[in-house]
Amino acid sequence: MSAPQEVQFSAENLEKLEKLRKQFPTSKALSIPVLWLAQDQFGWISGDVLKYVAGLLHLPVSHLYGVVTFYTMFNTKPVGKYHLQVCTNISCGLRGGEEIYEHLCRRLKVRPGEMTPDGNFTVTEVECLGSCGTAPVVQVNAEYTGNLTVDKVDQMINSLPA
Ligand code: FES
Repeated sequence: MSAPQEVQFSAENLEKLEKLRKQFPTSKALSIPVLWLAQDQFGWISGDVLKYVAGLLHLPVSHLYGVVTFYTMFNTKPVGKYHLQVCTNISCGLRGGEEIYEHLCRRLKVRPGEMTPDGNFTVTEVECLGSCGTAPVVQVNAEYTGNLTVDKVDQMINSLPA
């Protein structure tokens, strides 16, 4: 069993939270931006993070659980240092997204959604990333890379800092 995660927003995130409180009319409306801050800091939304955010926003944990399990951009389990989100929706699928996805899983020896044992990579299949004009697209953490091929995706992986 892993140790409980230390959960406390950084001073910077506490400051951002106070700014957000002025911009959103209700705590419920704050759920997504505050969970996003939490994911940015902690890497994923654990049960402890859910409880922490629920306390900050005075909302039931069940409400926040509903949000993170509905929106696929929230990670509900740990992800690797590089989270490779491969779009296989229509435009990307027609231009090789499926092959790229299968190639990445094969190359990194992971099943979909699984993290490599060294903690460096997680590969997940995602729906349209809203960048169909540059299909096929892979999102690496917050960055999009488009017009990919299997060879280009290999070069991209090789060039990521260790
Ligand atoms: S279908 Fe892949 S970005 Fe839209």
